[in-house]
Amino acid sequence: MKKFYLTSPIYYVNASPHIGHAYTNIICDCMARFRRIRGENVFFLTGTDEHGEKIQKAANAEGITTKDFIDNKVDIFKQLWPKLNISYDFFVRTSWKGHINVVKKVIEKLYKKGDIYKSKYNAFYCIGCETFWTKLQLKDGNKCPECGRKTEKIQEENYFFKLSKYESWFKQYLEDNPELIRPKIRYNEVKGFLDNHPLTDLCISRPKKRISWGIDFPIDQKYIVYVWFDALINYISAIGYGFDQEKFNTFWPADIHFIGKDILRHHAIFWPIMLKALDLKIPNCIFAHGWWKIKKEKISKSKGNIVNPFELIDQLTDLLAGNQALAADAFRYFLMREIPIGADGNFSFKALISRINSDLANDLGNLVYRSINMAQKYSGGKVEAVREDIPSEFKETIVKLEKDYDSFMSRGEFWKALDDLFALVSLTNKYIEDTKPWNLKKEAKEKELFSFLYAICEGIRIVSIYLYPIMPETSLSIQKQLGIEDASFSTQEAKWGSLDVFLIKKEKPLFPRIDVS
Ligand code: MSP
Repeated sequence: MKKFYLTSPIYYVNASPHIGHAYTNIICDCMARFRRIRGENVFFLTGTDEHGEKIQKAANAEGITTKDFIDNKVDIFKQLWPKLNISYDFFVRTSWKGHINVVKKVIEKLYKKGDIYKSKYNAFYCIGCETFWTKLQLKDGNKCPECGRKTEKIQEENYFFKLSKYESWFKQYLEDNPELIRPKIRYNEVKGFLDNHPLTDLCISRPKKRISWGIDFPIDQKYIVYVWFDALINYISAIGYGFDQEKFNTFWPADIHFIGKDILRHHAIFWPIMLKALDLKIPNCIFAHGWWKIKKEKISKSKGNIVNPFELIDQLTDLLAGNQALAADAFRYFLMREIPIGADGNFSFKALISRINSDLANDLGNLVYRSINMAQKYSGGKVEAVREDIPSEFKETIVKLEKDYDSFMSRGEFWKALDDLFALVSLTNKYIEDTKPWNLKKEAKEKELFSFLYAICEGIRIVSIYLYPIMPETSLSIQKQLGIEDASFSTQEAKWGSLDVFLIKKEKPLFPRIDVS
């Protein structure tokens, strides 16, 4: 069985999650579900990044111990994921003993190899991004080029990882592997960065006299490990590097690391070089998605413009007749349909509701509701197979879906798959209008009527299969209404005519129209 290992970033626990975090995990979940229905052995990893200066400061500000602070925040992340139907396989915490041991082993190994050394350091630190910058990289004198916040000048002795030793290897590797970083714009960004900045070695320790919340630096007790060096290692510690070789060999290398474009450099430069130094394989792909913004500003805690995903789902649940699972599906659909995942998007509640009304209530919900109704009304709920070819009206669209869906979904081009899928939804709606089954009934054209009913049931069954990775609960509900006892979402079964009989069980309309005027 083919394996598929995918990861989300591990989220900082200095604050509660917002919809930006939800976005990355929804992308991951859609990919994980798609791979599972393809029959792959999927391992989907998410978790939390719990060390570093900003977390220690946030805990101090609340006047509680850092341990209590992080445990509390981790619980909030763990409550959010089921609310959004995130089917992760393992939740890694960087405060977990297993991870800490691996980080220490990695440092010992690289030190023995001569890839870590001690030296004097002169740089500017951005606590928000937990990143050092050189004077030349600063913006407006002393501001962080990434987030624009003030940096702090730091001069101290520290340990360094020899990134520079691997520079020419990495440049060549990038040249030979143009799909390592996606989308293309991010690949070009990394190449451009390397062409214009000689790689300087990475400072990977922090003196305890300045910051104490982190993993003890194994070769010098006066230091802790730099939070990013610690965090990146989660991708191998979570699957047993150094302590569960069988599991590690099963899943490594990662097939895809989904990240936001804000953390590209760490993942697309530091991480492959760390792996090379450890003699480990390089991940197949690092996919950097864009940002959700509000009025052109990135949604982030520091900008104070966050949208709380708990509140959003509760609000949608109320608007969708109390159905939380459908609220999660609608939110997932909006995020995956509205923008290509490499681009930035503007978030607004109005746009979300308008998508729900137009695509989910008018198009999909209406299609399912009227199809189920007609099947019930015209055939008493039992619709038997009529072994005919796909009606010519939507043959082209179904054939295109069969051909393209797999490659769109495999490449994370969810919006393209959804475009094709909703073209099928629209065509099936049009097929109903054009066929006018009520006239067939009046004229007692039984054969045509049954062939029509079977066609619309097949149409929505196929929609339910392709929709599953993005909207799992909606998909399940459609199959239940079609009387499919053992729901199946395998794309193998999306072939026209694979079901002999539908035993309709009507339920409430899937997506009521939302009136928020
Ligand atoms: N802890 C690091 C990641 C370490 S991975 C080894 C970190 N955490 S974070 O909590 O600040 O952000 C994690 C991710 O959240 C970002 O990379 C991105 O995936 C997502 N987003 C945060 N804000 C976002 C938006 N406004 N829009 C979309 N995604 C955003 O960085």
